Amino acid sequence: MGWLHWERFMCNIDCDTDPNNCISENLYMQMANIMVTEGWKEAGYEYVCIDDCWPSHQRDAQGRLQADSKRFPSGIKKLADYVHSKGLKLGIYADLGTKTCGGFPGSLGYYDIDAQTFADWGVDLLKFDGCYMKWNLLGEGYTNMSIALNKTGRSIVYSCEWPLYEWPYHQPDYSAIRKACNHWRNSMDVEDSWASVKTILEWTADHQNVIVPVAGPGGWNDPDMLVIGNFGLSHAQQESQMALWAIMASPLLMSNDLRDICPRSKELLQNRHIIAISQDPLGKQGYRTAKVNNFEVWERPLSGGRLALAVMNKYETGGPRGFPLTLATLPSWKICTPQCNVTQVLPSYKELGIQTLLSKLVVAINPSGTALLSIAPLKGDLKNQWLLWKDV
Ligand code: GLA
Repeated sequence: MGWLHWERFMCNIDCDTDPNNCISENLYMQMANIMVTEGWKEAGYEYVCIDDCWPSHQRDAQGRLQADSKRFPSGIKKLADYVHSKGLKLGIYADLGTKTCGGFPGSLGYYDIDAQTFADWGVDLLKFDGCYMKWNLLGEGYTNMSIALNKTGRSIVYSCEWPLYEWPYHQPDYSAIRKACNHWRNSMDVEDSWASVKTILEWTADHQNVIVPVAGPGGWNDPDMLVIGNFGLSHAQQESQMALWAIMASPLLMSNDLRDICPRSKELLQNRHIIAISQDPLGKQGYRTAKVNNFEVWERPLSGGRLALAVMNKYETGGPRGFPLTLATLPSWKICTPQCNVTQVLPSYKELGIQTLLSKLVVAINPSGTALLSIAPLKGDLKNQWLLWKDV
């Protein structure tokens, strides 16, 4: 969990006319400060991550990458020290090809030097992009960088885009990817729009048989950044992104401006019930189980035999629509045998209490919003269950 600059701040390097929003050490220091003072760190957000456009166009005399000296006058080591002094971690970005996607120096031919430089600076996460590289050399490149990072002896989360660049040519080898990387992007860059969030969800559901089984502690599918708190999503759509990213066991890397975020978005991003689902220690990724008219049902197995259930309303007209949830028709219906305890986490927190397979729950879901439920099995005696059923 953390913050990554890309979607919100992109490659803004113009510190003369836009000093507050350009890619500079000040931006990360400000985000780090706010992460501590505004409850983000307490909620679990830990990594402050630099994306593209930080380096100078020239390597130094020893062949090492260096930060742009005008925008990062103190250098990355000092920035890492600062971020660490706040109890947070620092992420950085590089590319396995000849150039980064934004045209800055790539790491091809420099994997060992770059991994060591990042380790020497005290970097805690590397996002390694795959631009300007022949697709059939991606596997070798990503694996070699993983070896180079391990050689430094520093624990560095390794975020890859390997499958994203391979899918156009063939089905990526996910067991090799999982072996090398800690998370990996599969699908297109997220944009600040509902269309983009829907496309990512559709891609994920379409490929769930391939990508869901590989996810688990140590390696995760990454559907890209949370754009909650920006301009393009309604509040219901922000709730959908938060709920579904939790169901997908996705890294929660926000890309927004923490200095200027509306209280409802902040509350949503810091919602401890959703975060608990996202970070559930069982570490299983959820999947789509049904499409009913314009509703989608997703579920995620949780620790303790519990289940998270998301129902997304894809109607974009009218007001809240009731979705009749018959627990008996869930693929994981056994969880409510004989009884289960149901809690609604979104759109508002509500204890729905003890339910059985015969309960008829109707959840009201806003257009393009999502209802998120957490269901816990309850041990009970089957005789009582029979009495309950008889009453129904
Ligand atoms: C690619 C990545 C993005 C971002 C940009 C930076 O498009 O997918 O996430 O890192 O490069 O140039």
